[in-house]
Amino acid sequence: MDEKIIKELISKAAGMRKISYTPYSKFNVGAALLAKNGQVYTGCNIENASYTPTICAERTAFFKAISENVREFTAIAIIGGASDAEELEYCFPCGVCRQVMSEFCDDDFIIIIAKSEDEYKVYTLPQMLPERFGPKDVLG
Ligand code: THU
Repeated sequence: MDEKIIKELISKAAGMRKISYTPYSKFNVGAALLAKNGQVYTGCNIENASYTPTICAERTAFFKAISENVREFTAIAIIGGASDAEELEYCFPCGVCRQVMSEFCDDDFIIIIAKSEDEYKVYTLPQMLPERFGPKDVLG
């Protein structure tokens, strides 16, 4: 994938991280999802006093796109860490978010896990969720 696009996605994800609503965990995550139509859908994690309604940054981005009838995706960049962290560690998507990716993405979907615009790792969906259960298993 083009490095310039990767850096742009990371930059957008980092911007979203700043507006995460995380009064409970104080763990801030931002995501930027590139759709095949060229649009970027961003997301941050949004927590809740009742905890369970909390949504991850990745799913926020996916649901924003899907709710606008956009269902084909190329890549997602994810950046996250404690709000007071001096240096970020890699923040990998949770299992629920991987399953949501599995619903809407093909095997060539790219997942970029970033510490910064210059430090990131690139995975494909099957690397993140091997032997995945998806729409084909139910629909044939
Ligand atoms: N979180 C995300 O937004 N994405 C991830 O990939 C991992 C976890 C959020 C959920 C919760 O608000 C906080 O991080 C701590 O789990």
